[in-house]
Amino acid sequence: MAEPSFAGWRARLDAALLDTLPDPAVAPQRLHAAMRHGVLNGGKRMRPLLVYATGAALGAADADLDAAAVAVELVHCYSLVHDDLPAMDDDALRRGQPTVHVAFDEATAILAGDALQALAFDVLAGAAVPAEARVTMLAELARAAGVAGMCGGQALDIDATGTWGSASAGDATFQLADLERLHALKTGALLRCAVRLGALAGGASPAQRQALDTYADALGLAFQIKDDLLDIEGDAATLGKTAGKDAAQDKATFPALLGVDASRVRLAALAATMQDALAALDADTGALAALARQVIERDR
Ligand code: IPE
Ligand code: IPE
Ligand code: MG
Ligand code: MG
Ligand code: MG
Repeated sequence: MAEPSFAGWRARLDAALLDTLPDPAVAPQRLHAAMRHGVLNGGKRMRPLLVYATGAALGAADADLDAAAVAVELVHCYSLVHDDLPAMDDDALRRGQPTVHVAFDEATAILAGDALQALAFDVLAGAAVPAEARVTMLAELARAAGVAGMCGGQALDIDATGTWGSASAGDATFQLADLERLHALKTGALLRCAVRLGALAGGASPAQRQALDTYADALGLAFQIKDDLLDIEGDAATLGKTAGKDAAQDKATFPALLGVDASRVRLAALAATMQDALAALDADTGALAALARQVIERDR
């Protein structure tokens, strides 16, 4: 059977994003244009797809999931705009186009990221779900974006950058558990949040929430291990971003610590964990299973 392309959900999300982003013809035009550049440029939309797939598995209507799907993608796009800044990874290429600070300027890229994050919470505050669920969703996204999530992980990433080569060469200060924590925060938290927002909108039971958390935690780690592998094995034309940067910048990655082969073995184990978690979930999990495969098998 052919894998689902999720074209319908992607088109739905893109329409909602277009509707949400401020008009580039209205002042401040440069900021508005930069926000659109950072969002409407061909991302895979993995986090919104997880919102839709989780909600759909639990019987939620797409219309009840749109706000959460838009909000997680806006936070993700903001994180990429800032991740690419000269003060962080200093990347010139993202999704096959110049990064926001290259296409515009650094101050505009910083503001575009800030404004995208604020817009995410604005959108989620208007989600078409009961007020109590909405407050819980806002808190989930805040935690996933903050020190206990993406920002905390990015801080650990920066701390480890440049010290890694020496640390992995026998100095045991930075170990696998530290790397797993770094990845769980910088990448896993927002992916897990996407699943949780779908679960909240879909009214998941405690048992369903537990199985979905197990699935999401494995997916988050798998996603970053695959990102680390693609940085080594991919090419810029396919990836839409510069390849080979992690080794050049001495980044803390799975292949740097364990090697490529052991990283692939770990990926396969995480695929099995995701499958088992979905098998334990009393719901229609076809789309979630397909997304798990895409995370492992993707080439960009
Ligand atoms: C890249 O995320 C950054 C990481 C968290 C590893 P994606 O691979 O989801 O990037 P896009 O959204 O498809 O461009
Ligand atoms: C970034 O990880 C994770 C974020 C929170 C944005 P990377 O720095 O590895 O992401 P890429 O490879 O630049 O997309
Ligand atoms: Mg980075
Ligand atoms: Mg980066
Ligand atoms: Mg990377």
